[in-house]
Amino acid sequence: MNGEMDFESRIVASGYTPEDTNIELSLRPQQLDDYIGQEKVKENLRIYIEAAKNRGEPLDHVLLYGPPGLGKTTLAGIIANEMGVNFRVTSGPAIEKPGDLAALLTNLNDGDVLFVDEIHRLSRAVEEVLYPAMEDNALDIIIGKGPSARSIRLDLKRFTLIGATTRAGQLSAPLRDRFGVIFRLELYTPEELSGIVKRSAGILNIEADDEGALEIASRSRGTPRIANRLLKRARDFAQVFSHGKIDLESAQLALNRLEIDELGLDNVDRLLLSSIIKFYKGGPVGLETIAAAIGEEAVTIEDVYEPYLMQIGFLSRTPRGRTVTPAGYAHLGIPMDGQQKLF
Ligand SMILES: Nc1ncnc2c1ncn2[C@@H]1O[C@H](COP(=O)(O)OP(=O)(O)O)[C@@H](O)[C@H]1O
Ligand SMILES: [Mg+2]
Repeated sequence: MNGEMDFESRIVASGYTPEDTNIELSLRPQQLDDYIGQEKVKENLRIYIEAAKNRGEPLDHVLLYGPPGLGKTTLAGIIANEMGVNFRVTSGPAIEKPGDLAALLTNLNDGDVLFVDEIHRLSRAVEEVLYPAMEDNALDIIIGKGPSARSIRLDLKRFTLIGATTRAGQLSAPLRDRFGVIFRLELYTPEELSGIVKRSAGILNIEADDEGALEIASRSRGTPRIANRLLKRARDFAQVFSHGKIDLESAQLALNRLEIDELGLDNVDRLLLSSIIKFYKGGPVGLETIAAAIGEEAVTIEDVYEPYLMQIGFLSRTPRGRTVTPAGYAHLGIPMDGQQKLF
């Protein structure tokens, strides 16, 4: 893949990029009331939190899953806040040895939230430490080696494990079964995203009217992280071309310059769709084959590009592979018959 279109620099990438660090901190909602959308999740969460607090117990273990940038980390932080406990953050790949996890667990205070991002990437050995911890608040430690080895059980403080993953399917069944609460986060509607854009504009002191905010929202592929990023870029264009205010015209100008179309698709999305049409007659074609054809990782295609393309009905997953739908052809302006002429 060439430099301009690689995943890291992709403006509509929903993964975390270094540039996001500062603004994400200030834009991240701290309370459930400031968390826009995901109404069903919030509604249930409010009840679980209130009930746990009334009982004077920690919240049950929570698994959050969904594509990157939808607010999993944010929601985990909010849960800790609402419960009034510490928020300890780590990730699957960061916990290399069972001892690393044991150290984290023994340092928790009563009721704390331990957030494990990318929890599907925990090693088997580490996972096994987690089972008794989640179930019995206990740590089984093996002392000694060989025939004289014995296991002792250490009591832990009560805690809530919050796991986040983009791929719930990759979680082992024993781990998944130990979560009392499992929430799937959904892509946001343009209206919800518009609310997020306006909230962020307020915090960042950016002037944006309703139409401008909705324009950014509708091109953010259902993802708050992308909406916030496009807002920042639109501000740059608005400052240079229209006295700083983000309205419909300046938002459109910015998004067109960034080559993000009315539906939020960028060059990579279009390349993905057009490659399937051009080289595989619109599919079905296997994921690995597409990945090789466009020079992207299969997991990136699956986690980042496909959810939105499927949501808007441009791509479908069949047992035999991926297929571009008639709507996908139409969006690219390629007739379904006689397509060969175009290439
Ligand atoms: N429901 C929401 N309401 C407002 N802002 C949100 C919401 N969800 C996500 N965001 C914004 O999007 C950014 C990315 O969210 P994050 O929690 O890091 O996503 P994930 O962990 O799922 O990749 C956050 O910094 C936050 O500003
Ligand atoms: Mg996250």
